[in-house]
Parts: sequence; C-alpha cells; structure tokens
Amino acid sequence: MRFIFHSSALVARSALANIVKRLDPSMMEQGITKLPFDRGLINRVLKMKAAKVNKKLKYVIVIGIGGSNLGAKAVYDAVYGSFDGLAEERYPKMLFLDTTDPEFLFAFSKFFKREIRHADQILINVISKSGTTTESVANAEWVMGWMKRRFKNVKDRFVITTDEGSKLWKLAEAQGLSRLSIPKMVGGRYSVFTAAGLFPLAAIGLDIRELCRGAREVTQRDASVSASIAFHHLEHGRTIYDHFFFHPELETLGKWVRQLVAESLGKHGKGLTPTVTIGSTDLHSVGQLLYGGPRDKFTTFVWAKKSAHDVKLPRALFFRGLVEGLPGQSAQKIMQAILHGAKKACRNESLPFSETILPDLSLRSLGGFLQCKMMETMFLGKLIKVNAFDQPAVELYKKETRRILQRE
Ligand code: PA5
Repeated sequence: MRFIFHSSALVARSALANIVKRLDPSMMEQGITKLPFDRGLINRVLKMKAAKVNKKLKYVIVIGIGGSNLGAKAVYDAVYGSFDGLAEERYPKMLFLDTTDPEFLFAFSKFFKREIRHADQILINVISKSGTTTESVANAEWVMGWMKRRFKNVKDRFVITTDEGSKLWKLAEAQGLSRLSIPKMVGGRYSVFTAAGLFPLAAIGLDIRELCRGAREVTQRDASVSASIAFHHLEHGRTIYDHFFFHPELETLGKWVRQLVAESLGKHGKGLTPTVTIGSTDLHSVGQLLYGGPRDKFTTFVWAKKSAHDVKLPRALFFRGLVEGLPGQSAQKIMQAILHGAKKACRNESLPFSETILPDLSLRSLGGFLQCKMMETMFLGKLIKVNAFDQPAVELYKKETRRILQRE
C-alpha cells in the first residue's frame, strides 16, 4: 500500500513534522493492533469453522449491527461486490441482518422457506459485543423462532460471538450454543480481526490468514502521517474528511471507515465528519459540491493499481463521435482517466487531497487497509484529545429505545 500526499495535501513539511512529532509510535504496540498476529485466535476461528461448515452449507447469516457486522460486510462486498448477483452459483453466500426492517424480514422469511430444506444449509452467527443491542437480539430471536418451527436440533446451527461473561454469553452457554469471544479491550468498530470479523469470513471460505497477513505488514508510519494531515485540515476548518473510493465494490469498506471515524472521534463537541464518495458514480452527484461548494473538505482518494479482470471496447465504435479516445479502450483505462481527471480538478482548484493506493483488491491488500485506518483513527484520537475507544453517546438512543419498548 502506498500513501501519497507531498504535492497535493497542501500542508507545509514543517507543520506536518510538528504534528507527527506529537504522536507516540509505541501506542501502536497495544492490543488492538496486535490482533492479526494472534495465531491462537486465528486457530480458534478455524477450528469453529471446521466444526460448523459442511458440504451442504449455502448461507451464513450474520446477525449484528455497526462494528459487529461492518468489518465482515466490508470485506465480503469488496471481494464479491454488487456483482454477487451476476456471478455464477457460488456457495456459501453471506447474508446480513442488521436493522429490523419489516420488509426485509418478510422477504427473508419467504426466501428461507423457498431455499432452506435442511438445517445444515444454514449457519447463523449472532455477533454482539454487549449482547444487549435491540436490533441484534430481535433478529436473533426471529431467526431462532423460524428455525425451531422448521427443524429439529437447530442449536447446532448457531454460533454466538460476544464478550466472554456478557449476559448473552451466559445464556448461550446455558442453552448449549457454540460461542466465540471478543477480547475485552476490543470495541465493535475495531473488531474486524477478532472472531467477530474473521469467523463469518472464514465460514464462507475466504482466507483469513491472508487478510491478517496484510494487516501484519502495515507499519504505523503512513497512519501517523495520514492522521496528521487530516488533523491539520481539521484545525484549518476543513471538518469533512472524505474517502473517495474509485471502486464501487469498496462502498461498504467506506461505511466501515465512516463508522470508525465518526464513532471514535465524534465526542465532546469535537470530531471530523466522515463522508464516503464512490468513483466515478458520485462525481455525477457530489462532484459539484466538492469542486464548487464550501471549502471545508479534505479528500483521500483510495484506488487499486490492478483489477483482477478487465474488458475492452470495440475498435470500430457504433456510437461514433460522441466521446473522443474511446475506440479499443479498456474499462480500467477509462476509470484511471476519470480518476486522474478528478485529482487534476482538485489541484486546479487548490483543494487538498492525498492518495491511498492499494496494489490490488486482494484479501492481503484489504487487511492492510483495515489495519492502517484503525491505526490512523487511534492517532487522530490522540491529536483531537478524545478517547477513541468509547461511544457513550450511542447509549443515549439505546436506553430510550429500551424504555419505549418496555412501555409498549
Ligand atoms: O463500534 C461500536 O462499538 C458499535 O458500533 C457497536 O459495534 C454497535 O453499537 C453494536 O453493538 P454490539 O456489538 O454491542 O451489539
């Protein structure tokens, strides 16, 4: 992974050096950044996979929300993308139940009825660090009810991932359900390299060792520079931190970053507002605002040097004379031209940006990106002077929801 900023981030070298100096690299020696090195954890996940995955398995249902499902979803969508529905039959697939959308749940129950003939075709992973999140508990209850009505001995098809000792853990233990623990010091949005992220990915056959390998290769240097640049711009009124992904399949990864930045840093009236833009689609929606609106944004373009596949336009065009330079052009080249155009327009308007360039969209590259962003956020927490690991304000709505549900 390369991080490029010198000629585009519009931060003087001395100013940047002064901020970087304030960061203590030894803070990256702490638990969260060490997770991808924990072979014991990876082995426990793979052992659970061996116990639960069989030849009949068609769907891994992930029940969880926020930090508890976004990591796995980010990686899954990056690998299988919005073209999952176009791809040839591939099983097991991953399906996500996060919020309790009645329309989705209704469609889901019809889908279950149609698709699932045997309990072994389905594996349900309930992920909740606290074990008391309304949406996740409600969805788990609903799926359990559905399974019990259809099959005998369904307990075996559930894996509960939660804090060891949480109420959910104890209940699952008493009911004889399989459990995986999330280490105490790891909060939801930092949990992609715990069982929360790794187990569902392993269960559908993705190589979690490669994901962790990518994370292990990351050093704290790029993360500390990237955090320092974002902090410099925040201090100069650029409160919006945009991640501009030039691959539609990375949209969920963007949502993962958005949650990481928002929940970790948005406290005590401080914080950066994270936004996610997808190239080239969103140039046709928010491009005008980026180039012509308030100058309150710092952008980082995220793109991969290589795509696994490519296609070419015909040399002899049918729609001739509409866009110059298209005959025989490849889709990758067209995307690159648009990306360079988007960057050049930023330069012309003196809008600051950096670039995060991944070698490709492999699990190894994705692992590196995830790890780097978690480090960057922890560094930003230090600079902004907030605790990047708690989320006290999220409790505000959770408490009110419980109160309302109790009354009804
Ligand atoms: O990052 C976080 O801590 C949150 O986004 C949580 O992951 C989210 O609120 C879900 O909580 P839980 O995992 O306790 O169900």
